[in-house]
Amino acid sequence: MARLILFAAFVAAISVATFLGLWSGQFAARFANEPETAGVGEALIGGPFTLIDQHGATVTEADLLGHWSIVYFGYTFCPDVCPVTLQNVTLALEMLGGRASRVVPYFITVDPWRDTPEVMAEYATYFHAGLKALSGTPEQIAAAAAAFRVYYSPTERPETEDYFVDHTSILYLLGPDGRYVSHFSHTTAVDEIADRLARAL
Ligand code: NI
Repeated sequence: MARLILFAAFVAAISVATFLGLWSGQFAARFANEPETAGVGEALIGGPFTLIDQHGATVTEADLLGHWSIVYFGYTFCPDVCPVTLQNVTLALEMLGGRASRVVPYFITVDPWRDTPEVMAEYATYFHAGLKALSGTPEQIAAAAAAFRVYYSPTERPETEDYFVDHTSILYLLGPDGRYVSHFSHTTAVDEIADRLARAL
């Protein structure tokens, strides 16, 4: 009998531990996607990737070193959020004046099926002159998105051509050491982005 009670207690303890583990995992995942919540999970942002810029040059995580980086994932067919966000980054950098030369904005596609380097090259001309517009194979994009804890999912199978891509919409600010410093959401006002950049640089 004592043995049976011990066994029951053991099973109960395992269940509680499993539940707590799952719960804290979901908690962390939710915070990683929460635009205005800094601090939690920040060490998880960034990691190895290999992509190609709009001029055909290879870009890896090593290229993020030596300057401040603003990293944003989106896609050129995005009807509203992506162009507005990239426009906000462009305006914020213009507000910074000469100091903006220390910041490189990166736009990484979550639509590797349509966003070729050629498409990215044309799209980039609408925004900041220093914008690096990165694409890659579906596998390369998946790896980059995983490194930055970015979620994305086409609304239809990419073969159908007419589809949207749901995606995390966070602007990550990384320091010259390539590490996460802060983040903005697509709803952060231009002057707030500029102000926080000015204080961070
Ligand atoms: Ni978008």
